[in-house]
Amino acid sequence: MPALVLLGAQWGDEGKGKATDLLGGSVDYVVRYQGGNNAGHTVIVGDQKYALHLLPSGILSPGCTPVIGNGVVIDPSVLLSELSGLNERGVDTSKLLISGNAHIITPYNVTVDKVTERFLGKRKIGTTGRGIGPTYADKINRVGIRVQDLYDESILTQKVEAALDVKNQILTKLYNRRAITAEQVVEELVGYAEKLEPFVTDTVLVLNQALEDDKVVLFEGGQGTLLDIDHGTYPFVTSSNPTAGGACTGSGVGPTKISRVIGILKAYTTRVGAGPFPTELFDEDGAALRRIGGERGVTTGRDRRCGWFDAVIARYATRVNGLTDFFLTKLDVLTGWEQIPVCVAYEIDGKRVEELPYSQSDFHHAKPVYEMLPGWSEDISRAKSFSELPKNAQAYVKALEEMSGAPISAIGVGPGRDETIEINSFL
Ligand code: GDP
Ligand code: IMO
Ligand code: MG
Repeated sequence: MPALVLLGAQWGDEGKGKATDLLGGSVDYVVRYQGGNNAGHTVIVGDQKYALHLLPSGILSPGCTPVIGNGVVIDPSVLLSELSGLNERGVDTSKLLISGNAHIITPYNVTVDKVTERFLGKRKIGTTGRGIGPTYADKINRVGIRVQDLYDESILTQKVEAALDVKNQILTKLYNRRAITAEQVVEELVGYAEKLEPFVTDTVLVLNQALEDDKVVLFEGGQGTLLDIDHGTYPFVTSSNPTAGGACTGSGVGPTKISRVIGILKAYTTRVGAGPFPTELFDEDGAALRRIGGERGVTTGRDRRCGWFDAVIARYATRVNGLTDFFLTKLDVLTGWEQIPVCVAYEIDGKRVEELPYSQSDFHHAKPVYEMLPGWSEDISRAKSFSELPKNAQAYVKALEEMSGAPISAIGVGPGRDETIEINSFL
């Protein structure tokens, strides 16, 4: 099993950090391949809680080399403060590798993200305001700044000037903001160069050599399938490809090397930011899921929108990612409901629809068709094997597995590393 991908099967925050950390002890490299510090991955080790944004969750496993691939967008100030925060807590971060081809989130990208959202008003996406979209837009427009540019000040200055030529027109004329000078941006970016230099390398070469040497490489997705720029609920998405294909473009490792793609699936559904969400709850049940599940954003502190499990979405994730298996998380949160509704299909304009509609306007009108599954009241957080789960919890897991189209290899029954039930040799 040389290379495997671990990604979110819903709208993010499925528990990818915990799952990556679990696997971290048995893999050699953990690679982030897209996104940036819009991600917030929680890892709990013993009594220590870590919130990771840019760093791959493998950084907490000694022996594992964390890699930030070419597909990631990096805010250097965030990266450096994340590194120093971990160092202060005794975590060794010296093995980190950063692709010289990764793009930099510049201060003007962050400004553009925030003012664009404000300008959109009611139509806003609800971004994390971290400059993600504008940085990927610059990359595609071929006016982006890459990590390697930090090491040639004259090239850097030319590139920043070229980018600001257009940005300043937009900022001053459209958004009524002050212009940003190239000097101040260059000065700030050059200030990061030396501190980042020990980590910067040709990560494509490193990863492919590692795979040739039979090392195990784990790709850790940020966000989730339904937030994918191509396959998600566009335009209410992020600006990268969290889906499995993104692991290849975002790292320079070919698809023939990947043998397993694990979807992280929450036992119910959450979403942060705007956009359609058929099973969203606005009642007591939604508030209870939020309270019991601790559904508050790790990055922005926003309350997450909560709803019942949506099997249509899970099937879709299986399809677009070619999932081999699932890690079902947060089953413990559902303890205490007499009956648990699960969305098995949608009703759109009076018709029953089994698969995610390709048309966004149809999806906006989708009403969930629920099947009621019997709940359980026993505390499951100490269960160590599938057979220790109450019969109704077992049946819930089996039903989800059947509806979602891929086997469930592990079940999360609590946030801690050891609060996991392994079914099919997940590790
Ligand atoms: P990520 O972005 O996918 O890494 O997920 P987040 O860290 O944003 O959100 C997941 C939250 O659920 C975190 O607070 C985790 O500590 C927590 N968590 C993960 N797995 C479980 C689980 O099985 N049970 C419970 N109760 N909490 C979990
Ligand atoms: P993790 O990795 C949940 C959402 C934002 C917004 C949309 C676009 O922790 O699962 P962006 O700042 O990316 O341009 O915002 O995407 N979003 C996330 N939602 N979890 C995340 O990351 C997210 N990263 C971005 O809320 O709706
Ligand atoms: Mg998160």
